[in-house]
Amino acid sequence: MRDPLLDEWHPIAASEELPEGGALPASLLGQEIVLWRGDRGVHAWPDLCLHRGARLSRGKVARNCLRCPYHGWTYSEEGQCIAIPAHPGVHPPQRAHLLPFPARERYGMVWISLGCPSGDPPPFPEWEDGSLAKTRCGPYRVNASAPRLLENFLDVAHLPIAHEGILGDPSRPEIPAYRVERRPEGGWIAADIPVWQPDPDGSSRAQTVTYTYEILRPLAARFRKTGEGKRYGILAAVHPIGLRESAFWMWNFWDPQQGVRPEEIRAHQERIFAQDRPIVESQRPELLPLDLQAELHLPSDRLAIAYRRWLAELGVGFGTG
Ligand code: FES
Ligand code: CO
Repeated sequence: MRDPLLDEWHPIAASEELPEGGALPASLLGQEIVLWRGDRGVHAWPDLCLHRGARLSRGKVARNCLRCPYHGWTYSEEGQCIAIPAHPGVHPPQRAHLLPFPARERYGMVWISLGCPSGDPPPFPEWEDGSLAKTRCGPYRVNASAPRLLENFLDVAHLPIAHEGILGDPSRPEIPAYRVERRPEGGWIAADIPVWQPDPDGSSRAQTVTYTYEILRPLAARFRKTGEGKRYGILAAVHPIGLRESAFWMWNFWDPQQGVRPEEIRAHQERIFAQDRPIVESQRPELLPLDLQAELHLPSDRLAIAYRRWLAELGVGFGTG
């Protein structure tokens, strides 16, 4: 069965990471990729020159072409070799043509697919909402499988324990029953889970707030917090670099009236992720078990159960066991 992750969009690099006049190496689902920018936008190709297999990402971009660093084969934006320096009079053969991967820029990121994506990258309507402040956090590189990372993002019961004092209070760890439902657009939603929010800075913000999680795609989810009369949320997407290597990206949005600066949000997320990283890297088995008999589950794990069932239903094999 073809892994549906091949036909997904994956966030692979921040737009500003693409060097002027150069290329950027990247890896997606174990496939080595070269990214570069031409007049027509960002291009993503296998990072392999068709002549002797040198890495094209070590090459240079000039006159809207990518030039191999070894013998200078020069590839046009279409992926066609159009010049071979050692044979200036020779027209390069038609089969000297690299097959491009679909590439798009959204939310300040380059998104790539290795197959035929049916739609767009995960929806993020807040990105276009001028009344909201936004910042991108990450990438957080982690030695863990991508589904393990997304499941961690969806895990509500770890907040008062692993993020004691920041996202929860260990003396109030109880997770009330919540429902998980299918979203009409696909994926799953767990709406309005009451969560006790501690008061880290003594400004008496301790109160019950509600969290809503939506699983949008096999490796993308959305989080919203309500209850303080303010809007706050996250779009999260995991970049599956290799089987046990991933990068986590998040876009946070909030009401600017809160007076929170983007650097503060990023520092907050970094602090939280530093607590998650060693735990997720320690989880065994490394590949997320989709057989529900393999681990023990409780009502507070309902969203994780729905996630695992859904991955199994979709036939996601990469990063799962
Ligand atoms: Fe790229 Fe020879 S290996 S030009
Ligand atoms: Co966490």
